[in-house]
Amino acid sequence: MELGTGHSLLYLTLILSVLFIFHNQIASNLLVGHHKLRVKRSSPDLPLRFRSDGTFKILQVADMHYGTGLVTRCRDVLDSEFDFCSDLNTTRFLKRIIQHEKPDFIAFTGDNIFGTSTGDAAESLIRAFGPAMESGVPWAAVLGNHDQESTMTREELMSFISLMDYSLSQTYPSTEDASSEAREHMIRDIDGFGNYNLRVYGAPGSHLANSSILNLYFLDSGDREVIQGVRTYGYIKESQLHWLRGVSKGFQGKNQVLNHLEGSSPEMFAPSLAFFHIPIPEIRLLYNKKIIGQFQEAVACSSINSGVLQTFVSMGDVKAVFMGHDHSNDFCGNLDGIWFCYGGGFGYHGYGRAGWSRRARIILAELGKGEYSWTGVERIRTWKRLDDEKLSKFDEQILWDLQQSR
Ligand SMILES: *[C@@H]1O[C@H](CO)[C@@H](O)[C@H](O)[C@H]1NC(C)=O
Ligand SMILES: *[C@@H]1O[C@H](CO)[C@@H](O)[C@H](O)[C@H]1NC(C)=O
Repeated sequence: MELGTGHSLLYLTLILSVLFIFHNQIASNLLVGHHKLRVKRSSPDLPLRFRSDGTFKILQVADMHYGTGLVTRCRDVLDSEFDFCSDLNTTRFLKRIIQHEKPDFIAFTGDNIFGTSTGDAAESLIRAFGPAMESGVPWAAVLGNHDQESTMTREELMSFISLMDYSLSQTYPSTEDASSEAREHMIRDIDGFGNYNLRVYGAPGSHLANSSILNLYFLDSGDREVIQGVRTYGYIKESQLHWLRGVSKGFQGKNQVLNHLEGSSPEMFAPSLAFFHIPIPEIRLLYNKKIIGQFQEAVACSSINSGVLQTFVSMGDVKAVFMGHDHSNDFCGNLDGIWFCYGGGFGYHGYGRAGWSRRARIILAELGKGEYSWTGVERIRTWKRLDDEKLSKFDEQILWDLQQSR
């Protein structure tokens, strides 16, 4: 008896000290972050840019639904799979697909952790994003509707996520272009946490090496709302769309200047991709349309239509949108010329369909070949991979092609 107690005490001490080190690292980052000091955290090389082979590859991870690790059981797997299945399978899938696809960037589209299955959001986040942090691949995340159901608010979650190794996530949009304090206030007044924009620059050595030629928009689609006494899902608010229109206009203005300056070079157009969690109501219209992938469950969106689709259409630069939330839907469908794609459920603790493998989406942007060097983005394609033995690739399609769009 004595011996047993001694051992478990020793074990407990070990676990506690490991957790203490983990937390201390992050906590000191947070504290220092508030004081605007530089910290030693592993940061990716910036800016994001296309590779010298003219490609930029994004891995979309939707709905990891991470709990605490080994003790968090899998949902909706076959009976034969249940006994040896936990969050660690989600970790394994993430490691494998990063190794296999070697993405340049990873986009996590919410419900990264399943709040109700963890008593410590920080620990859950560290475990969930662990493979991304270890890989050194730059990554960014938005929140879903379940991330905040544990020990951190949505604002705290985003601050924490933005300080993790190799993370490019931001709690607030950048004030880079804003000079006055009023602008900063305005940016803080935008609804939600995790509205931001990341720019991807041209290939090294090309004439667009110092220009942003692909933009990635991240939006917080919220969690829940009560509309006239009725509970519904969150949605993207007008303040967010207003900010988005401004950013988009800014980029398109810059491109005009660039086109003007370069005269003879082919017209520069920087397409954008958007990432958020909760689908927009128009996705329902795709039920009877030609889609690529599976439409297997009702679209769980808000009862409010805030005009996200109209905004994207009027902006003109958004060519494809990537969402999560409905784990059993993994299709892409086209609305008014813009592709809307689900990631398909990635995590084993999230609901799904037994016998229907967990999956991930890959997005590949390809540059055009100019006479002397790479030009701007010419094509954007996507495909998915299953978490099976061979990480089977399927449903490959083109989302946008500069030549065809002219
Ligand atoms: C989960 O991981 C274990 C251990 O690596 C493996 O044996 C099992 O087949 C995996 N289960 C599923 C459903 O992928
Ligand atoms: C990009 O910026 C770097 C560093 O300022 C400079 O050396 C290079 O010539 C620039 N390239 C182009 C194509 O403008």
